[in-house]
Amino acid sequence: MLAAALGSGRPAHILVAGAGGGAKEVVTAAALEPGWRFTAVDPSPAMMDLAVARLAEHGLADRTEIVLGTVDDLPAGAPFDAATLIGVLHHLPGDAAKHDILRAIARRLKPGAPLILAGNRHAYASQPLMLAAWGERWHQQGASADAVAAKRGKILQGADPPQSEAAVAALLRSAGFGAPTRFFASLFWGAWLARREPSGVSAAAAPRPRRPAAGPRRRGRGPAPPRPADRRGSPPAGLPPPAAGCRAPRRRAVPRCWPCA
Ligand SMILES: C[S@@+](CC[C@H](N)C(=O)[O-])C[C@H]1O[C@@H](n2cnc3c(N)ncnc32)[C@H](O)[C@@H]1O
Repeated sequence: MLAAALGSGRPAHILVAGAGGGAKEVVTAAALEPGWRFTAVDPSPAMMDLAVARLAEHGLADRTEIVLGTVDDLPAGAPFDAATLIGVLHHLPGDAAKHDILRAIARRLKPGAPLILAGNRHAYASQPLMLAAWGERWHQQGASADAVAAKRGKILQGADPPQSEAAVAALLRSAGFGAPTRFFASLFWGAWLARREPSGVSAAAAPRPRRPAAGPRRRGRGPAPPRPADRRGSPPAGLPPPAAGCRAPRRRAVPRCWPCA
């Protein structure tokens, strides 16, 4: 789908968000399109270590920039020709976090650039027939009734999928993408291609306040970008200066001092 959207055989720079684990997206796409290079982003050191090992195994270290962090840690702008977000969205709790990662991706794509999004398209508990069918499949593959019940219990607690396909489309729209085209579906998964709106990320996709972050760690290319600025300087009128034991930038309901405000 990505080659069809970008034009096969052309050079392209692909943002791979949530690339940890096997870096499967990079390994697969790199073999099909020798002109593509990748920026692989994931905040989990353990998952990224696995990805780095796999990329080295496949001789892809030179074609892949590794960023240990989130998409928000990449410079803003629109340098990427395309992006993937595979198997990630349903692991982010709540709509706000889902919106934020999609919006962060949109802000780093060229106008009209495609995103491949893949992940759950239903809340598990909302689809009892499909859950039962999934159980049947495990059963047919040799799982006992107890093992099926245990697996089902685990997945019911382990993820927060969008409620519906319409919810996926709404998240994409609010983050600055056009209407998605679904090109794959299984019992619970879907895969979509959506393009960044040519006019850019709309006001509806305005940035939400950022959490204090540890900052990204990059391997291989240049120095790490600066950490989020501490709230230093002069206190605004009415707030006392930093108190002993101040733990800025943690926020408090009742400010103790300026950096804690
Ligand atoms: C189930 S794995 C999928 C990995 C890979 N995309 C695949 O399909 O094999 C989900 C990955 O998303 C990563 N992840 C979680 N939160 C993330 C975020 N905010 N930004 C980017 N990646 C994130 C996790 O660390 C994990 O490596």
